[in-house]
Amino acid sequence: MATIIDGKAVAFEVVASVAKEVATLVEQGLQRPGLAVVLVGDDAASQVYVRNKIRTSEQAGITSIEHRLAADVSQQTLLTLIDELNASDQVNGILVQLPLPDGLDEKLILERISPAKDVDGFHPMNVGALSSGLPSLVPCTPQGCLIMLQQQLGDLSGKHAVVVGRSNIVGKPMAALLLQQSCTVTVVHSRTKNIEQLCAQADILVAAVGRPEMVKASWLKEGAVVIDVGINAQEVDGKRKLVGDVDFADCLAKVSAITPVPGGVGPMTIACLMQNTLIAAKRQLG
Ligand code: GUN
Repeated sequence: MATIIDGKAVAFEVVASVAKEVATLVEQGLQRPGLAVVLVGDDAASQVYVRNKIRTSEQAGITSIEHRLAADVSQQTLLTLIDELNASDQVNGILVQLPLPDGLDEKLILERISPAKDVDGFHPMNVGALSSGLPSLVPCTPQGCLIMLQQQLGDLSGKHAVVVGRSNIVGKPMAALLLQQSCTVTVVHSRTKNIEQLCAQADILVAAVGRPEMVKASWLKEGAVVIDVGINAQEVDGKRKLVGDVDFADCLAKVSAITPVPGGVGPMTIACLMQNTLIAAKRQLG
């Protein structure tokens, strides 16, 4: 029987452990960690994600400072806000929710965030540090995937990991993290030839492409561990339903373990954001 990895339960443990450390800092008379969350525009999915991030901050004992800006905000106003957050003693971590509305230069905005407060791990300094194996703030989603893989498999050394997708947010940092754990890593994407044959070699498969139920059982090796990063909204019989990038029902009988959607990777992303905020706060304390 395959294990269905309970991301919610693992995330609960991670958040509880952050909350415990935060309580210790506060008992010592140190400042409570603060996370600034910036939401631009009214993208429905982003609003849900931001709400969950703020709610989890409360559970972790982290102060959240929310900044909501209109979709037509000027680039300069947003950059000025980031400068203020970079300079604020109350703010240890800064998160600008993506995607940004058209007309805003995402690259320029993410590069403006101080690398020390970049709890998303998207700044080029943190990207470079991760690739070089130097201390960095690691992107939350791949970090969450790694924690679940290690819980499931223990040492990952020598495993063949196939990452489906090459985004800056998930695919590329996931590959870097797995390489750091001494996996053999293959990254496949929309232009890859023989994608199914490559996936069939995977001991570990991480799917992060944003294509509903693309990965089928016929793509998998018997006993693979599958992590599904996809969150795709679909209409089924007139009802809205979330599905992953993996065809869960089809793959269940073939895998040794798999994450569900929802309740797999999603809660772990937010738990790792709490962890990063604590790490950033502790480093800023000196
Ligand atoms: N949008 C989708 N995923 C993420 C994430 O991990 N961080 C931010 N800031 N925006 C996102």
